[in-house]
Amino acid sequence: MPAPKLDLKFRLFLRVVALAGLCFAAAAAYVLFETDRSARARADWIAEVVAKDLALQQGQSHWIKGAPNQFPDLQRVAAAIMAPGLCIAYRAQSGEILQRLCSGAAPDDTGAPQFFADLYQRLFDAGRESARPVSFGKEAHGEAVASIDRQSLIGQSWRETSRLAVIMAVALAGLCVLVYAALADALRPTRAIRAGLERLAAGDLSARLPPFDLAELSAVGNVFNHLAGSLETTLAERQALTQRLIVVQDEERQHLARELHDEFGQAICAVAASAGQTARQECPALIAECQSIARTAAHMMDALRGALLRLRPPDVDELGLAASLEGLVAGWNARCSGRTQFSIELSGEFDALSRDFAASLYRVAQEAITNAAKHAQASRVTLRLGMQEAAGPDQRAHIEIDVDDDGKAAADPTVRFGMGLLGMRERITALGGGLSMDTSRPRGLVLRARIPVPPAATPACETRYAA
Ligand SMILES: Nc1ncnc2c1ncn2[C@@H]1O[C@H](COP(=O)(O)OP(=O)(O)OP(=O)(O)O)[C@@H](O)[C@H]1O
Ligand SMILES: [Mg+2]
Repeated sequence: MPAPKLDLKFRLFLRVVALAGLCFAAAAAYVLFETDRSARARADWIAEVVAKDLALQQGQSHWIKGAPNQFPDLQRVAAAIMAPGLCIAYRAQSGEILQRLCSGAAPDDTGAPQFFADLYQRLFDAGRESARPVSFGKEAHGEAVASIDRQSLIGQSWRETSRLAVIMAVALAGLCVLVYAALADALRPTRAIRAGLERLAAGDLSARLPPFDLAELSAVGNVFNHLAGSLETTLAERQALTQRLIVVQDEERQHLARELHDEFGQAICAVAASAGQTARQECPALIAECQSIARTAAHMMDALRGALLRLRPPDVDELGLAASLEGLVAGWNARCSGRTQFSIELSGEFDALSRDFAASLYRVAQEAITNAAKHAQASRVTLRLGMQEAAGPDQRAHIEIDVDDDGKAAADPTVRFGMGLLGMRERITALGGGLSMDTSRPRGLVLRARIPVPPAATPACETRYAA
């Protein structure tokens, strides 16, 4: 299954969101580590201060006579260092806590959700103690202990992280809007490129792109215009060449037909006539043999007439296109003697068409009907010829030729293009039209040609074709 297509703007938008998410995760991790590091440093510093104060108290009780012996007195140092969530204590050599002072957590620092508290605890072991020895002279007298309350530390980290999340969310939303708007603006010309490509694909080779501000799109536009220009020129040259080839081919066929008719046809008639005549006059015994020669000659004459008809269609200029096609269909009905029923449906007026154009239409219909007769094994073949008038003043009228049979057709007949279809397609393309073959019905094939009627042929044109 093909992957769903994502709009470029949306794809980049998703990438920006993913990148911002990563940045947020990195920043949040940094904040958490930094909070833990500074909490630990603070606990170390407080333990240090408490240890020094306790050492001082030891000194005072030792050196100053009459000094009150209230060791350890944590209240003395507490006034200067106590903060919410902080605990200080004095632990004797035996490990027993002799005095401890704690202040409760600040109300702001108690609202962290459980998942965050668990994560923080797993990562940093919150609430760990910092201890510093209390020494007087060379002797150690227990140790000063400081710790920051676990809940208070987690609450503080949560507060910092959620503040960061809010700032990141606002920044991300702003960034996304900016990126989306900038991309939409930068990619607006791609719509013009797409429309141009669609026009080209639909056969409109006059499609050109306007200049673009972006260097990359401007380069694409230049290449597009160059390509469309050279395609237009090449196709125009090819069309002119094909038209010329078709004219030459038709002239050659006419010439061949004339030669066959005038030379070969006359000779066959002469052979048949003179053989009979000579036998009757000089050798009556050969009359039967000569009659057989005359029959063979008549048969050859029939075959020659068929070939002449294929080489040179009835002069559509004289008979008219409609009558010529009716004759073609009648000929196939006679040849297939009921196996296949050929019919013709005409709609519109074809008398005003130029001779060359009408001859081309005849050739297209002729090849399509011949193909249906040769390949389709159909019981019915219908030829439809219609004139579609121009829809507007700057539009051209079109001729539509449909040859529709109910025979056997391959799913894609174009895979076996022979000379007939190739010639038909070239002829139609040279006239600026299009050819399609439809095999979507359960049986048979519909061949469809749509050809624009050329503007009235000028005398110069007629002369060129006639030459
Ligand atoms: N009406 C049709 N029904 C079924 N198959 C068709 C029909 N028209 C064309 N075809 C298929 O398309 C192929 C190509 O046709 P095309 O006219 O180009 O060549 P051809 O008829 O075989 O030979 P040529 O026209 O050169 O004498 C045919 O061989 C045939 O298989
Ligand atoms: Mg053919």
